[in-house]
Amino acid sequence: MSPFLLTRTLPEDATDAALRADVLKGLTGTPKTLPPKWFYDAQGSELFEQITELPEYYPTRAEREILVDRAGEIAAATGARTLVELGSGSSEKTRYLIDALAGLHTYVPVDVSESALTQAGQALVEERPGLDVHALIADFTRGMALPDTPGPRLVAFLGGTIGNLLPAERAAFLASARGLLAPGDALLLGTDLVKDEKVLVEAYDDAAGVTAAFNKNVLAVINRELGADFDPGAFDHVALWDTRNEWIEMRLRSLTAQTVKVPALDLAVDFAAGEEMRTEVSAKFRKEGVGAELSAAGLELAHWWTDGAARFALSLSVAR
Ligand code: AVJ
Repeated sequence: MSPFLLTRTLPEDATDAALRADVLKGLTGTPKTLPPKWFYDAQGSELFEQITELPEYYPTRAEREILVDRAGEIAAATGARTLVELGSGSSEKTRYLIDALAGLHTYVPVDVSESALTQAGQALVEERPGLDVHALIADFTRGMALPDTPGPRLVAFLGGTIGNLLPAERAAFLASARGLLAPGDALLLGTDLVKDEKVLVEAYDDAAGVTAAFNKNVLAVINRELGADFDPGAFDHVALWDTRNEWIEMRLRSLTAQTVKVPALDLAVDFAAGEEMRTEVSAKFRKEGVGAELSAAGLELAHWWTDGAARFALSLSVAR
């Protein structure tokens, strides 16, 4: 068997159908919304990589610090022979885990992006002879079947991306993540933490304007994929802290009254001057809340590690 396998669990056209459904629902609802997963075309993925290097955007550096410090403890606590990574992207931070897991047999990166999976997967089998990589093209928010590989299993969901899900979606996601595990298997979850409002808002509204470009890129995606005529220059980037929900919200604010056509959906959408469309929720967490949400999904919080400045947390929980 080849040490690198790629399995498609999504039909080729599933992405297109999902984009249409999301855009139709989001642009005809009140208030208007667009789901953040559509930020990540090639351009959006490149902009996100740039965001991770901004002085204001601390989560990537904070999580890497924790992984560097704790990979050995994570390996000892789990003894994982199969590592599944949801939303693996470039698998850049995962290397710390892979290197620490001495008995690792198979790495299963899961992503919707075939190009990211192939790039990262090929590089890994070359760097680590003996490791099987079985990449899955899948939408992990939907549920999927994992290859039959040896346990114990460790499922990792890094980067704080769980914060993009609304509370009900989070509960459904954690329940399906639990469904991938046998009793005693573990979930490694990255969560950004509640902190000073100014630090949070600046992380999502950087001085160089990279996050603004990232936010507006979703309009370019809809233009290209659905033939729409959004003018990204006719919208302002907005980032705000929602104190009650404890999440950052990104929005696009229409500078003028305008009508946008989306031919693929046979749709014309009116924006009022100043109208705001929500493009992302990025929830921030506290230890008690994470423990309660894990527990509701059948997972027991076993370890809670933060970076030195307590900006970000990695939790390790065990399936009951
Ligand atoms: C990749 C979802 C973790 O929510 O912080 C970065 C995306 N949005 N800047 C986040 C993002 C704006 C990021 N995640």
